[in-house]
Amino acid sequence: MDRIDDLLTRRALLARATGLAALAGLPVGCAVAPPGPPAPLGPSARLGPSTRLSAWPFTLGVASGDPLPDSVVLWTRLAPEPLHGGGMPPEPVAVEWQVAADDRMRTIVQRGMVTAMPELGHAVHVEVAGLEPGRWYWYRFVAAGAESPIGRTRTAPAAGAPLDRLRFAFASCQHYGQGYYAPYRHMARQELDLVMFLGDYIYETSARDEIVRPEPHTAPISLVQYRNKYGLYKSDPDLQAAHARFPWIVTWDDHEVANDYADDQSQDRDDAAWFLRRRAAAYQAYYEHMPLRRRALPDGARLQLYRRLGFGDLVAFSVVDDRQFRSHQACPPIERAGGNLVPDCAERHDPRRSMLGAEQERWLIDGLDRSSARWNVIAQQLLMAQIKHKSAGTAEFWSDAWDGYPAARERLLRFLAARRPANPIVIGGDIHSYWVTDLKRDFDDPASPTVATEFVGTSISSRGIAYERTRATLRDNPHVKFFDSRKRGYVRCEVTPAHWLSDLIAVDNVTQRDAPSSTLASFVVESGRPGAIEIAPSSHGV
Ligand SMILES: [Fe+2]
Repeated sequence: MDRIDDLLTRRALLARATGLAALAGLPVGCAVAPPGPPAPLGPSARLGPSTRLSAWPFTLGVASGDPLPDSVVLWTRLAPEPLHGGGMPPEPVAVEWQVAADDRMRTIVQRGMVTAMPELGHAVHVEVAGLEPGRWYWYRFVAAGAESPIGRTRTAPAAGAPLDRLRFAFASCQHYGQGYYAPYRHMARQELDLVMFLGDYIYETSARDEIVRPEPHTAPISLVQYRNKYGLYKSDPDLQAAHARFPWIVTWDDHEVANDYADDQSQDRDDAAWFLRRRAAAYQAYYEHMPLRRRALPDGARLQLYRRLGFGDLVAFSVVDDRQFRSHQACPPIERAGGNLVPDCAERHDPRRSMLGAEQERWLIDGLDRSSARWNVIAQQLLMAQIKHKSAGTAEFWSDAWDGYPAARERLLRFLAARRPANPIVIGGDIHSYWVTDLKRDFDDPASPTVATEFVGTSISSRGIAYERTRATLRDNPHVKFFDSRKRGYVRCEVTPAHWLSDLIAVDNVTQRDAPSSTLASFVVESGRPGAIEIAPSSHGV
C-alpha cells in the first residue's frame, strides 16, 4: 500500500472506530477481541471526527502482559507530552491494534479497534483472544496516523501441557533518579519467555543526593501527578525495550503509592480518608500504565491484583499483593508508622494480623493445594525469611517485611510443610539486595526442615541497603545462603522438570547506561529437594 492509500485507510479506520465505539458502548480504554479471522477494515467505514495530535503519541512505548494459552494483554498509552499530563485533547481517540505472526508485521493474524478514553489518560488495554498457545506474536498500534513501535509477546503453553523449559527474569525497585536501567539493557538481550516485576515500578519521592538522573517532579498526590511520574519512568528506552521484547507479569509494592503504606495507613499517619483518595489516584495511574486485564480496572481505592498464571504442567505463578490488605505494621514508635526495627513485641505475634488479608490468604493456600504444576512460585514483594537483628543482645525485626507478620508467615509455612505442594519457590524484591534463603518450618531451629526455597532479587537501580551492617546479622540467621547489597541487577531463572536455576545478574554500576554485567552467583534447586545449592556462576548470555 502506498503512502496516500495508507493515510486514507487510517483516517477511515479512525472514523469508523469512533463511530462504532459510540454505538457499541465499548468499555473505556479496553477491548476484548473475539477469536476469528481479521475483521474487514477499509475506506467504506462509517465516517466520524478525526483527531490531530501535537506530537507522536507513543512516547511511552508498548507492552504486553498476563499471557494465557489463548490470550495476552496489549498495552500502550497515547501521551505526546508524557511529563505534562499526556498532552492529549480531552476526547476519545480511536486506536487500531494489530497482531502479526512475524516481526515485520507482514502476516496480520488479528486486528481491531479500541477507544482510548481521556478518563483513563488515553491508556489502551487490549485483551486479544483466540491466539495459539506457546508461541511468539508481534503487535503494534496505530492512532491519528501514527504508528507505535513493534512489540513482541508470547502466549502461555496450553494448560497442563508438557513443558520442558521456562525461562524468565524477575526484577524490582527501579528508582529513576538513582540510576540508569542498565540491567534492563542486559535483560532485553536475553532469550526469555517472560518478565516478572515485583514492585516499586515508580518511587513517589525523588532522589535527594547522589542524583544520577534529575527528576522534575515532587511527590505525587493527584492522578495527573502520578501519571507524570509514570510518564518520566516509562520514557526510559531500556525499560521500553524490555517491555517490547517480552510479556510482563507485574505486581506492586509500596512506592507505587507511598513508602511503607499498609492498607489505609501511610507512614506519616495521614488522615485515612485522605490517604485512600491518594491511593485511588495512585492505583488508577498504576492500572493505566501496566499491561493488566480488565478485571484489574480499579474501583476507587480497590484494585484486584492478585492472580494465578500457569505455564503448561511446569510452573504456576501465584502473584500476590502484600500491600492493599495488610494489617498496619506492629509496635510502631510514636513518631512514625511504616517499617521500623522493632523488638519482639506481643502485637507482632497476634494471629489476627495478616499480610495478605483473609480472603487473599485463603485464595493463595487453596490454589497451592490444588495445583498440579511441577514448580509452584509465590511471586510477591518482600523478603519472607526471618532476619534477626541483634541490638545489645536483644533481637529486633523489620516490621514492614514478613518479619512484621510472623503469624501469617507461620500459617503459610505450616501449610507448605503439611500439604507439600510440589516445589514451592518464593521470589521477592523490596530490599535492594540479593538473598537466597531456606524457608524453615522453624527459623529458630536450624535442624528444622526447609519447606520452600527463597530468591530475592536486588534492585534494578534503587540504592542498596547497608552491606557490612546487614552482613553482620547473618551469623544469627544460618538459613541465609547468600546475601549481597552492593550491586544492582535482576535474577534470571531457567526452569525444567528436574531443576530450577537462578542466576543473580549484576551490572557494574548504574551511573552508566551501558555498564557491563556479570553473573554474581548461580543457584540450583533440584525438584523434590527444597533448598538452593550454589554452583559455579553461569556465563551464559552475560
Ligand atoms: Fe524499593
